[in-house]
Amino acid sequence: MPKPVRKAVIPAAGYGTRFLPISKAVPKEMLPLVDKPVIQYVVEEAVASGITDILMIISRSKRAIEEHFHPAFDLEAELAAKGRGEELEALRTLQSMARIHFVWQPKMGGLGDAILHARDHVGDEPFAVLLGDTVVASATDKPVTRQLADVVEQHGGSAVALQQVPAEKVSRYGILGGEEIGPGLIRATTFVEKPKLEEAPSNLAVSARYVLSPGIFAHLLKTPPGKGGELQLTDAMASLMAEETLHGLRYDGARHDIGNKLDFIKANIHFGLQREDIAPALKEYLKTLA
Ligand code: G1P
Repeated sequence: MPKPVRKAVIPAAGYGTRFLPISKAVPKEMLPLVDKPVIQYVVEEAVASGITDILMIISRSKRAIEEHFHPAFDLEAELAAKGRGEELEALRTLQSMARIHFVWQPKMGGLGDAILHARDHVGDEPFAVLLGDTVVASATDKPVTRQLADVVEQHGGSAVALQQVPAEKVSRYGILGGEEIGPGLIRATTFVEKPKLEEAPSNLAVSARYVLSPGIFAHLLKTPPGKGGELQLTDAMASLMAEETLHGLRYDGARHDIGNKLDFIKANIHFGLQREDIAPALKEYLKTLA
């Protein structure tokens, strides 16, 4: 029986060059979607997926992430004294969501290098990886990370979330090829990081969520630098595939990549329209723009 998935790793160390100048001192993961930073949505997905322990991989200028998840007893006392129950509750919920730990990635060596920094913390159990700058909204009640954990708890090995992308975007993602063995479930035979369109095995792109076998660490240690001279998680997973199964799961839902300016603005409108307190006025405003 594969072990249950209890731990998650959230890589959040990248420079955020696509979002400069704001990302120079403000981590892109701390940009707000309405009134919560992106990374809080990511943590909420992990927790709703049964994760109880989270390791965040951070770097210089990402301190605000630590502060966001750190208890603020002075602020709590202030809110309690002023009878601000709702805000106090929001802060307490934030702090009690999961055990959250931090580790520094001193040099940007790629997603594979970031995950390697989680090796001692993760140990010998399967773990989820949720990219800290991307919100994945499942179209069903089950979060995408939970859906991947179900695949791994049932079949063993590792699993990745997939979305179909248009041909012109294939070279921006990890692309998986294989055989469909159930509705949306693909047993992988090839996995390539950012291939040219003519070399891509499909148009199924890895979409910011993984559940990995701890076997990945041995492969990360022996994988040479790949695309962009960086240690690519995709390459290590392709190497692990010779020993253990890898499944891809095509999920229904939306992916909001906040490191991308247009997606960030669209995501704010999307989440704003889901909020009872501002949706009616926001809708009216949007109508005036049409
Ligand atoms: C990373 C991965 C890539 C994946 C993408 C989106 O790329 O290397 O395989 O498809 O995230 O999840 P990045 O966007 O960091 O260049």
